[in-house]
Amino acid sequence: MASVNSLASTLQQQLADALTAALPDAGTADPLLRRSDRADFQANGILALAKKLKGNPRELASQVTAAIPAGDLIKEIEVSGPGFLNITLTDKAITETLAARAADDEGRLGVPYNSAAGTTVIDYAQPNVAKEMHVGHLRSAVIGDAMVQILEFTGESVVRRHHIGDWGTQFGMLIQYLTEHPAELTHEGDGGEVDGEAAMSSLNRLYKASRALFDSDEEFKARSRDRVVALQAGDEETLAMWQRFVDESKIYFYSVFNKLDMEIRDADIVGESGYNDMLEETCRILEESGVAVRSEGALCVFFDDVKGPDGNPAPLIVKKSNGGYGYAATDLSAVRDRVQNLKANTLLYVVDARQALHFKMVFETARRAGWLNEDVKAVHLPFGTVLGKDGKPFKTREGETIRLADLLDEAIDRASTVVREKAKDLTEDEITERATQVGIGAVKYADLSTSAARDYKFDLDQMVSLTGDTSVYIQYAHARSRSIKRKAGELKSRPHPELELAPAERALALHLDQFAEVVAEVAAAYEPHKLASYLYQLSSLFTTFYDQCPVLKPEVPGDVAENRLFLSDLTARTLHQGMELLGIRTPERL
Ligand code: ARG
Repeated sequence: MASVNSLASTLQQQLADALTAALPDAGTADPLLRRSDRADFQANGILALAKKLKGNPRELASQVTAAIPAGDLIKEIEVSGPGFLNITLTDKAITETLAARAADDEGRLGVPYNSAAGTTVIDYAQPNVAKEMHVGHLRSAVIGDAMVQILEFTGESVVRRHHIGDWGTQFGMLIQYLTEHPAELTHEGDGGEVDGEAAMSSLNRLYKASRALFDSDEEFKARSRDRVVALQAGDEETLAMWQRFVDESKIYFYSVFNKLDMEIRDADIVGESGYNDMLEETCRILEESGVAVRSEGALCVFFDDVKGPDGNPAPLIVKKSNGGYGYAATDLSAVRDRVQNLKANTLLYVVDARQALHFKMVFETARRAGWLNEDVKAVHLPFGTVLGKDGKPFKTREGETIRLADLLDEAIDRASTVVREKAKDLTEDEITERATQVGIGAVKYADLSTSAARDYKFDLDQMVSLTGDTSVYIQYAHARSRSIKRKAGELKSRPHPELELAPAERALALHLDQFAEVVAEVAAAYEPHKLASYLYQLSSLFTTFYDQCPVLKPEVPGDVAENRLFLSDLTARTLHQGMELLGIRTPERL
């Protein structure tokens, strides 16, 4: 885990330091602290230490308790069970620690940088040229974008790579068709500015028409095959045609990413075609080093534990017997580029779980070739399938894949109903703006709040619900806090460590204090759903606090009101920061 500097030390860190110092085996033993229901924290590490020292755990626990100097941090410490420690902190320490976080002048809420930060190349948001984007592309984009934000926040250098599918034999057919029907990819009558939908629908039309011809007309099929050869040989006219497909598709991709409120930069789009120049060399290195061998004319890498359905070894094919290169050769070349040119320490792939075997074989091949090693690791962050409400893969009633753009529009539409119901003083423009933030936030949050590897049900009704584990619930908690602040007028947001905390204040404060640890953990394990769950819990603790601890009522003493306003503000800032890391907006009003 990231090291925590002293100014930003969390309560848990301070407590761990105090306990470690009191342990007989100081420095090597871990007190194994965790939050607990009975007290603020429980330490379970005494048991293991007693075993190691061959002593009685309860006796050791009592010794440790006695050795802890009385101070500002610990209010109560008691031995329980076979030798656990239950620890209650002082209210003063809690408030002071939060005050230090809030005062962090870098505006990072005291979240430290990872002292072991390096360079991560992340492969995410990789749709395919001339094809519609689907919900799988949504998941990669949403999870990948959150990981980019989270990693950058911890100080990691992040290089983004959008490995779009922009190469392959299907372009022969498309290009040949376009050569024979040049008018098909122009946008007459739309005044030059082409929107994403129009771009996609003309690509779709072209795809269908060329496919139909390809399947019915042998001569066209032959001309298409020649086109593939011309494309691979770098024929200029053919390449120019290919580029038109890529450009047209990008118009469409950008319109979807834009709707998703996500920044994708042109320079980071390095698709399969971007590695063409490396393929031959990649194969040569693999063959010369003996990592890949010829088998039935193809260049293959074999694995002991990978077998096909017939029980025979199923190799990774890097070069086909007809001389063509496939998906694997491109990915292996991309590994070389990312390690050798981009100087990555970590390669992270946010890709569908169904490609797990492909990546397992690619990574193992790269290890054998020495491109991956102890200093450079590759990680597949797999995600599960998006299911419909009925639990089956998400399709329209006609069995077609659902268009991503339609889905996002529908989410915004549902959200506007919710926003309209709540809105008292919002203008139509404001409603539209909020509905977009709520609707898109809902889709992203639903995607991020279950662990990525699991399948999840796409249920818009549930996603925009104001109750339950949803983004709008969190956005609403945030907006509530902002509203208190607006109404507070002259009242200052100011911590008062001398005050005793009410139970709801304490619970909120202890949870607020964990933000830095959660961020470090989420960044290290690539688990954005843990951040989502932290934020949801924070919102629900805030809701209880809001109900039980009034801020602006006249009977509340001034110092108590100031301290509550401080807690409420820090909650809003933490929610805002956390949601920003997930790529979700937190409007000031809802
Ligand atoms: N374009 C692929 C798809 O739609 C995903 C690419 C994943 N990245 C990679 N380096 N292979 O499934």
